[in-house]
Amino acid sequence: MHPDITSILYSEEDIACRIQELGAQISRDYQGEKVMLVAILKGACIFLADLIRCIEGEVELDFMAISSYGAEAKSSGVVRIIKDLDSDIRDANIIIVEDIIDSGFTMKFLVKYLKARGPKTVEIAVLLRKYMDKQIPVNPRYTGFDCKNEFLVGYGLDYAGRYRNLPYIGVLSREVYE
Ligand code: IMP
Ligand code: MG
Repeated sequence: MHPDITSILYSEEDIACRIQELGAQISRDYQGEKVMLVAILKGACIFLADLIRCIEGEVELDFMAISSYGAEAKSSGVVRIIKDLDSDIRDANIIIVEDIIDSGFTMKFLVKYLKARGPKTVEIAVLLRKYMDKQIPVNPRYTGFDCKNEFLVGYGLDYAGRYRNLPYIGVLSREVYE
């Protein structure tokens, strides 16, 4: 285990199993319909790569890059679009693919932003959702794991750009960011 990680929450095997289930669920729900995954860079890229290969049927892909954290372990409450969609999403079945929902602020922004572009449907596939008291309700249709309110890294999730390459999801030692 990496020395900055205090515990492993989800192992490689846990993650792979859960993503297969999510992929199967998405495949069933969209039978005969095309879906467009909109993955949120950078954190969601590893989740996306595994999820898309578990979905049967016609799938298209686009990316947005946003920033709400900077080098902090707490959201700044301001969402900045760094890269917008390449595609016209009018009448598309969109699934937003995101790494984690914390306050819900980023996801609320994204749903509103994408809905304004006239898609047929907008759903959310999120790998991790933290339990918190004052979370903005965003109701993801597909959630990998509900987890404790701790700062998590690995499997795409970073702290100040680091730890994305860990194959598991772990709790970051407070000593690193406090
Ligand atoms: P929210 O707007 O507070 O829901 O924050 C969502 C964004 O913050 C996600 O897209 C992540 O990039 C980042 N984030 C929130 N919690 C964590 C965490 O525990 N580890 C790494 N990134 C996080
Ligand atoms: Mg993110």
